[in-house]
Amino acid sequence: MVSLAIGCIASTAALAAAFVFLGGGKLRRRPLPPGPRPLPLIGNVFDIPRSNAWERFIEWKDLYGEVVYISILGRSIVLLNSVKSTTDLLEKRAPSYSDRPQFPLIKVGHQWNFGFKPYGREWQSLRRTFTSQYNSMATLRSFYDAHRASATTFLLNVLHKPEELSNHMRIRGAQVIFEVTYGISVQSWDDTLVQTAEAVMDVVSIALYPSMWIINPISILNSFPRWLGGGIVAARVRRWQADLENLRNAPFEVVKKSLATGTAKPCFTANLLQELETSSENNMNEGIIRDTAAIALGAAYETTFAAGEVFLLAMLLNEPVQGSAQREIDSVVGSDRLPDFIDRERLPFVTAVMKEVLRWHPPAPTGIPHELTHDDMYEGMFLPAGSIVMANIWGLLHDPTMYPDPFTFDPSRFIRDGKLDCTKNDPSRFVFGFGRRACPGRLFTEDSLWLMIAQFLAVYSISPPSNGGPPPKAAFTSGAISRPLPFKHVVRPRSQAAQNLLTQLAQGQ
Ligand code: HEM
Repeated sequence: MVSLAIGCIASTAALAAAFVFLGGGKLRRRPLPPGPRPLPLIGNVFDIPRSNAWERFIEWKDLYGEVVYISILGRSIVLLNSVKSTTDLLEKRAPSYSDRPQFPLIKVGHQWNFGFKPYGREWQSLRRTFTSQYNSMATLRSFYDAHRASATTFLLNVLHKPEELSNHMRIRGAQVIFEVTYGISVQSWDDTLVQTAEAVMDVVSIALYPSMWIINPISILNSFPRWLGGGIVAARVRRWQADLENLRNAPFEVVKKSLATGTAKPCFTANLLQELETSSENNMNEGIIRDTAAIALGAAYETTFAAGEVFLLAMLLNEPVQGSAQREIDSVVGSDRLPDFIDRERLPFVTAVMKEVLRWHPPAPTGIPHELTHDDMYEGMFLPAGSIVMANIWGLLHDPTMYPDPFTFDPSRFIRDGKLDCTKNDPSRFVFGFGRRACPGRLFTEDSLWLMIAQFLAVYSISPPSNGGPPPKAAFTSGAISRPLPFKHVVRPRSQAAQNLLTQLAQGQ
């Protein structure tokens, strides 16, 4: 895919040249923020690394400052590398900083997705429909059973096939979101819906990676004659579009059928469809319900999986931390039942582990960029309208002034006097993005992740294999959604009491 990006540069360089002659050059005379020197026409294309771009962005902070300017093919990009600049711009000046750039690859099939829609009334109304379910305390509590069911399946899957830990974690993420959104219980990794979700999200992750922001797949298709391989690219894009449409429609139709036969379970889609039937003054329609539901699936699937994998890797690399969390669970909950949501307040260290998982390696290290709608001045620097504005979430979460010794996995940074205290440094303030576009799935994610972490640590221990292979290390995939590279592990019930609990759980199934 990256080679496509490079291949496309030549065909778009002329556009960049036109941009510079038609006015882009004027920007040079204004005090833009500092940044790496651009090449003529193509700008900083080659400065964005193919992997771990967030690390390069933090180097730029040291070199150029908290606000960095680059350009790619004439398009301005502003990188924000500090809490101050993200708060001042993305939050305090939200009306001008809440638009989305029109990502070319996303445009090919995601026009219906409010996460990529321009800031405005339509976006606002769709987002309101979404948050009415995913961000309301009452509905979030109604999702607790789905979180419990997916955690139970996960624990039992691990018991039966511990070597397939990663696949079980993947299924857990899919299960919970399919259940609460459509009332559909997916059981296995081979499920067609899970496979489709995976295929769609792989491409989204590539499309949102910084080097892909302004590469136009249509121009890629047009610039490659079929006999040179353009047909293959076109076929791939068509396949992706088909998968996406399938994901948008197939589970929705399942809910409609089950409502018609009276077998629908309460869930996001069924609740809203029922509301639609009974309410006369409603500006909702089936299309809105279908599309907002599909967004939940896309937004939650890969991110939840990534966070779960980061948790496993962090525990494997930090066995003393694992031990501290387990001792807290034993003293508060005991060993004859699993922790549940009612225990949350009394398990501050477990909650701190969850917060540290999100901080240590955030699933979306560079977030989703915003677009600036009006020319702006910030601390003497000119920020041009139309700039892509990106916050380096990973960078903020590794800022040593806020998180001393940032590469160490240390949940105790969130504990004060034996209590959870994130008032000044809650990672969730950054992990889930900023201002009016901030992730509406934050509370849902924290519920889901917390329960999985508490219940996993109650019954299992994870450690590196003891067969003398190379020690596991903290290494992660690139892409807009980043998760650990595959790692070897040994996972087993941590005591006879834990084994008994798992046996009881299996019998109750
Ligand atoms: C670990 C899990 C998750 C992470 C790290 C995450 C992160 C993010 C980030 C960084 C953004 C962009 C915010 C911005 O533009 O500043 C975002 C947007 C979004 N997220 Fe999440 N997310 C997660 C889980 C979820 C879940 C579970 C849902 C749904 C149930 C969800 C739904 C959305 C939606 C709909 C948007 C688009 C919001 C808009 O453009 O108005 N996310 N998320």
